[in-house]
Amino acid sequence: MNRKSSRWEGQTLDELKERWDRPNLHLFSQVDSTNEQARRLADEGAPAGTLVLADAQSKGKGVEGRRWHSPKGMGLYLSLVLRPDSLPNPKLVPLLAGLGIARAAEKLVPEAEVAIKWPNDLIVNDRKAGGVLSEASWDGNVVRHVVVGIGVNVHQEEKDFPPELRPVAISLEAAAGESVSRLDLADLVLQHVEEHCSRLETSVDRVLLRQFDERDWLRDRRCAVRTSPEAEPLHGTAVGIAPDGALLFRPDKGALRRLSSGRVLIEELTMPDF
Ligand code: BTN
Repeated sequence: MNRKSSRWEGQTLDELKERWDRPNLHLFSQVDSTNEQARRLADEGAPAGTLVLADAQSKGKGVEGRRWHSPKGMGLYLSLVLRPDSLPNPKLVPLLAGLGIARAAEKLVPEAEVAIKWPNDLIVNDRKAGGVLSEASWDGNVVRHVVVGIGVNVHQEEKDFPPELRPVAISLEAAAGESVSRLDLADLVLQHVEEHCSRLETSVDRVLLRQFDERDWLRDRRCAVRTSPEAEPLHGTAVGIAPDGALLFRPDKGALRRLSSGRVLIEELTMPDF
């Protein structure tokens, strides 16, 4: 059951609207998925900048139909509605939003190693601390809206993650070794994600590409990439991110590949996957 709320982190709805300069803010103490709620609102005509933020999600969605574990009060769960004039390269959206959350995390946990794992993961101290699920709605070739969903683990201790995630997940607070405020994180995430997603073009410029490069967790790592769930994994080494957001991947056999989508498994880790 979806339950609206009029407060979050000690702030009233009106205070948050003003703080984030965001008249179209929808707060929930619990929602199925902020992405689903944002999509419903966008389908009804909600304007660009509409934000859905929840304290818990009962059906939080991850990429590839996976679940995003969203316990109450533990993480940042939000979705932002974008209405770009066009969307020439949808694959760039999670990378740009991922850069935004990485920059936010760097400010709050300056001692930790913060990185982006292509195409949509926030990595802190070599573990997954967050992710982006970007979903576009189309009218033929014309983009109607894009929902950018962001989930960041903030307060979880190891025991708060499901057992299968414990070896690979981390929260910002665990990485910092001190308390981290969800409100501060939301301030920074909104600022950086909107900055990066304000111009969605075919490729990124040199400045942004450098920002990806500096945080590219896969670079020079041996990995296996599955380009589709049925495909045999390709073994090789990730060598960078291209301006159009493709992963540059050097297979053990054959020429350099540009992968525009896929799932990357890390060979050097004993754990199977993030
Ligand atoms: C991933 O699989 O790494 C992406 C996770 C994205 C999770 C966020 S939480 C807020 C928003 N609502 C959802 O249902 N999913 C995204």
